Formats: sequence, structure tokens, C-alpha cells
Amino acid sequence: MNAVQRWLKSLESRQSVDGAAERLRARVRPFLRDRPALDKALRGEWAGHAIHPALVTLPIGCYSAAAVCDLLGRRETARHLISLGLLSTPGAVITGLAEWSDLDLRQRRVGLVHAMANATSSVCYLLSWLSRHRSGDTAGRGWAVLGLAAVGAAGAIGGHLTYAQGAGVFRWSDRPAEAVGERPGPRPRTPSDDAADDDATAGGRHERATRPGGS
Ligand code: HEM
Repeated sequence: MNAVQRWLKSLESRQSVDGAAERLRARVRPFLRDRPALDKALRGEWAGHAIHPALVTLPIGCYSAAAVCDLLGRRETARHLISLGLLSTPGAVITGLAEWSDLDLRQRRVGLVHAMANATSSVCYLLSWLSRHRSGDTAGRGWAVLGLAAVGAAGAIGGHLTYAQGAGVFRWSDRPAEAVGERPGPRPRTPSDDAADDDATAGGRHERATRPGGS
């Protein structure tokens, strides 16, 4: 395991974010549980898979294109792209929160760090946008560089969440995987799985607790 993989893995046992994660989840999950149609729509039941990864291409694409425009001296276009990136962010945030609130403990930890990195990038791009209107391009370009770094880090963490931890895999439907004609994914986690993970972490063992029938 290299240093990047070790760092991403270490986020799974970061208990310092548990308090904030639980407070946020206590607001989001009951709200969506009372509105099952909205919950399923945001988690992509209509598409057959999570829709967060599709929606995040909008801000990421706009910010990346803005960086190219800045390099080419196309300041006006860069500013418009940053406006579009900021305007497309709520869709990514809402679908991300809906998915995150239904994940297991270790995934929620990584997800919260991912959300904080994305919040940092949004603040940087907002400051970039404001600077381009008020104080000029130099400060605006500086904030955009910081924003792109934060969105890159957030993407790496999101990738770990999706591909290493399997977040979002078969979470979009109540139906078992077999019922939608797919290979079965990991079985849904239960509170006792979370407790087992906590015990493992408290005991200094950071590996994921074994889940019978799971991955
Ligand atoms: C502008 C805001 C955001 C961006 C650009 C973003 C970006 C990403 C990216 C690139 C991935 C990896 C997807 C893949 O390659 O398959 C991801 C996954 C994920 N993100 Fe976000 N994210 C944002 C906001 C949030 C927020 C606020 C949350 C809530 C905590 C969140 C929760 C998740 C979850 C649960 C996953 C894993 C499941 C999945 O792939 O759908 N994201 N995100």
C-alpha cells in the first residue's frame, strides 16, 4: 500500500468526525425516510444506479475548463464557467447527502471528509468569482488554483468511497440485486456491523470487520 492509499484508508477510522457526521445524518436521514419517493429519486432508483457521479461532472468539468481558460488568458469565459460550476453544485450536494446518509459508519467518515473538501473548493470558487468582479483577476486566479486542488483531493476521496469501499453499489433500490437482474453486491449493513467496526477500531485494528455474505 502506498502513502496515498494509506492516507485514504486511514480516513475510514477517523473517529474525530463521528460527532459531526451523526448530527448531520440525524437531520438528513429522517427527513428522507419520511419521503421515500424523494429518497429513491435522489439516490437514482429511476436511473438504475447512483446519480451523484453523473451530476458531479458539471462542477468538475466547469472548474477544469475554467483553469484552461485562465491559462489561455480567456478571463471572461473562465468567470462564466466558474458561475456555471457554482450553480451546478447544489445538485451534486443534494444527491451526495442523500446517498451518504444511508451508508455505513466507515463510509460515512470518508464521505464527511469528502464533503468538507468539496465545501472548501466551493468557498474557494465563490471567492474566486467575487474577486474577479471586485479586486481583479490575479486574486481570482489564485482562489481558483486552490479550489481546483480541493476539488481534486475531494475527487480522490470520493473515488475511494465509491471504488474501494463500494459506497453507492446497490444502495439505490430496496430490491435485492438479483431482482433487478444483476449480480448480488454486498448485503446491506446492519447496526451490529457498525458496532463490530467500532470494536475493531477501538482495539487498534483498522481493517474492515468481516461481514458474512458481504465483500
Ligand atoms: C460539488 C460537490 C461534490 C462533488 C464535485 C463531488 C464529487 C464526487 C466524486 C468525483 C465522486 C466519485 C464518483 C465516481 O467516480 O464514481 C463522489 C462520490 C461520492 N460523493 Fe461526492 N461530490 C460532491 C459533494 C458531495 C456531498 C456534499 C456529499 C455528502 C456527504 C457527497 C457524497 C458522496 C458519496 C456518498 C459518494 C460515493 C457514492 C457515489 O459514487 O455516488 N458528495 N463525489
